[in-house]
This record gives sequence, structure tokens and C-alpha cells, in this order.
Amino acid sequence: MADATRRIGLSLGADICWPLCYEQILKRLDLAIDWQGDRVRVEVDRVTIEPFDLRQPCTYDVVLDRLTHWYSTSREWIKKAVIMDGLYVLNNPWSVQSMEKHSTYCAMMHLGMPIPSTWMVPPKSYEPLPDLKPTLTSYAKLFDLGQVGSALGYPIFMKPYDGGGWKGVSRIPDEGTLRERYEESGKLVMHLQSAVEPFDRFVRCIAFGPQTRLMRYEPGAPLHDRYTVDAQESFVAPDEAALLRDTTLTINAFFGWDFNSCEALRKDGVWHPIDFANPCPDSQVTSLHYHFPWLVKAKIRWSVFCAVTKRPFRKNLDWSPFYEIAREPGVPYRERLRAYARIAEERFDTARFEEFCARHLGNLDEIAHEFFGTPAAREAVQKKVLALYPAHEVETFTELFWRRIQAWRDSAEARS
Ligand SMILES: Nc1ncnc2c1ncn2[C@@H]1O[C@H](COP(=O)(O)OP(=O)(O)O)[C@@H](O)[C@H]1O
Ligand SMILES: [Mg+2]
Repeated sequence: MADATRRIGLSLGADICWPLCYEQILKRLDLAIDWQGDRVRVEVDRVTIEPFDLRQPCTYDVVLDRLTHWYSTSREWIKKAVIMDGLYVLNNPWSVQSMEKHSTYCAMMHLGMPIPSTWMVPPKSYEPLPDLKPTLTSYAKLFDLGQVGSALGYPIFMKPYDGGGWKGVSRIPDEGTLRERYEESGKLVMHLQSAVEPFDRFVRCIAFGPQTRLMRYEPGAPLHDRYTVDAQESFVAPDEAALLRDTTLTINAFFGWDFNSCEALRKDGVWHPIDFANPCPDSQVTSLHYHFPWLVKAKIRWSVFCAVTKRPFRKNLDWSPFYEIAREPGVPYRERLRAYARIAEERFDTARFEEFCARHLGNLDEIAHEFFGTPAAREAVQKKVLALYPAHEVETFTELFWRRIQAWRDSAEARS
């Protein structure tokens, strides 16, 4: 049996905690996977930022990328490596660059998802480009913002069409506030969206390849308490959990995102997805705490699977099969969604992935369980807390997140 090595690169920015845990668990795993006649080892290191020759080879098989949405040098290096060297990257950089919240709303509305009614309005002000005046003079129609507000009905959420991280988001109860907020919105191009209110559940579904996890979310709580530690069975019925998984995997397969999260609100028994263009989702222990070990394990499973099996990277998005299902007349939405999700499960290779994990990563749960009880794990948590919290709160919050990770270690999920 020949020896082979696969290399995984971590393309990182401000991430501190998960890479430390990822690297240390992978080291403890010390993988030597029998794969198609080879004994395959897996190495991981961090991608550096430096000048590169467009023709230089890429030594990575898989890159886990956290920079593409804002750091163009790394993004363009990744594109080069996908095009020229067959790199597998999470997530598809072209898709991250071009698919904002707006495109995702449009696409999922087209597939029939109950996205709240949403309008786009031209911005309040502009960069003074030479063509601006003739363009606006000729074509910009005077509009009455109040009419858009009335068409939607209050309350409304105003938020950037390409937003993220709650930047520029406001809840608008009436027309006066709408006018005020619009005056303040500057050059941002905004959506106005009907509020899903009152909602009785707010869930985030995070997905890594075919792996999904539902978390109940408290948007009004302080950052460290927004993801609740509630068990899934306590906030969604099994059929709702299946619907949220199908919704998230459909979105992710449609946009070529291996790693994404979907926010959905339940009102009158209907789940409305409201934010699902998050292809660099929060991965920090300071927000995920109890759920953090799940995410680290999910990252390891999927990236090792992609690297070892040399999973081909889907360079182009193929929307036709989804559109074909959307076109079929008279199919109830739930059945349609199931059919979309079947495409997703196929694209994410769910069955093969599960078999791979069972056969080759059988000891990951045990090793991760052990690791998350070690001083090295606590140190990873503390390093992230140090980076985010004022000095006098570091010990308190390190202890809080650590306790939640220990609660996870004691849970049935971690022990099984
Ligand atoms: N249509 C809506 N109905 C109810 N709440 C909403 C709606 N849109 C946004 N929100 C609230 O505002 C928050 C931020 O909006 P979101 O669309 O998630 O933007 P971002 O991409 O910045 O996270 C959401 O987490 C939710 O609490
Ligand atoms: Mg959001």
C-alpha cells in the first residue's frame, strides 16, 4: 500500500478558537485512511498571504476559507487555484462574491419558499460619478416612500440588500420612522421587508456539507446568549426539523455553499426564511459556546472527506434541475422542497459521506470529547475571549463558555 498525503489549508482572518481546536483534534486523530489502495494521511496548515505567480502550483487539496467575502488577494489566489490546480474550496468564491441577500431572496422566492414580501428602493445618495446626473435625470422616477411602506404594511425591516452582521438593519413601526431611517441610509441600497411578527420561534440552521444543526435563537439577548442551549426536540417537531434541513440544504446546494446558515422565523405555523446568505457564518466559541464542538467536528468530517476522496469542486452553479421542479404544476410546496433537497443531498453526497465517516472517522467523537476537556481546549477558548472582551471580563466569560462546552461533554449527544 502506497503512502499518500492530502493537505488542507486554513485561510483565516480573525478566527482564533476553531482553528486551534481543528488542528489539535486532527493531530490527535493521526489519520491513516485506507483509500483506494493508498494509506492517506492528512496535513493541515495555515494559508499565508504573499505575492504569487499565477502559474505557480497550489499544494493544497482543500482550503477552508474565511476571507473571500472581504479580502480580495486571498480570494483571487483561491480562484486561481480552483481554475488551474483543481483546488476544492469552501465556499465557492464566485458565488460568495456575487450572491448577496437579494439574489438569495429572489431565487428562493422563485422556488416557492415563504420569504416575506420584500422591495428594493434606490439609495438616498450616491458617489458623484460623471454619469450619475444624466442617468438619474433621465430615468430615476420620483417615488413616494410612504406608498412602498403601505404596500408592505408595518412593521417593516429596512436592511441593506447585501447586508450581514446586522449592519444598517432597523425595525420600522410607521411611515414617519421609515422616512427618517431612509434619510439616514446614505449610499446603502436598501430592502424594505415585511416583518415576520409576532413570531413564536426563531431558529438558525447551520450546515456544513450535508451536516445540519438547528439552534433556537434569541435575537434580543446579549451576544453570548443568542444561541440558546435548548435541545432541538424542545423547540421543533420532527417534521419541522426536516423542513428546516431541506430548506437549508436546498439553499446551499443552489448557491454552491458548503458552509452557510439559514435564519428562519415561525409565524402561524409557517417557517419564513429571512436571512440565508451567510457563507462565512459565525464560527466563534464566544457565540456558539455549547454548539461549538459540533461545528469543529463538522468542519473536520467534511474537509477530511473532501480531501481524502479528492471530491471534485463544482466550478459552475447548475440551477436547471431546481427550476424544472419549480415549473411542475400543482405540486404542493412541501413535496417540491423535498425534491429540491434530494438534489442537494445528491450534490453533497450525503450517503457516501456518512459511509466514509462511519468507516474512517469512527473515533472522532471520542477524541473530540476528550480534547474538549483538556487545558489546550480551554486555552483556545480563552484566546478568543481575550481578543473580544475587556480585561476585567476575560475570566468570567472564559469560564462561562468553558462551562457550556463541559455541559455539551456531559450531554447525551456527546456521550453517545
Ligand atoms: N423580516 C423580518 N422579520 C422579523 N425580524 C427580522 C426580519 N428581517 C430581519 N429581522 C431581524 O433583524 C436581524 C438582522 O436581519 P438579517 O436579515 O438577519 O440581517 P444580517 O444579514 O445583517 O444578519 C434578524 O436576525 C432578525 O432579528
Ligand atoms: Mg442575520
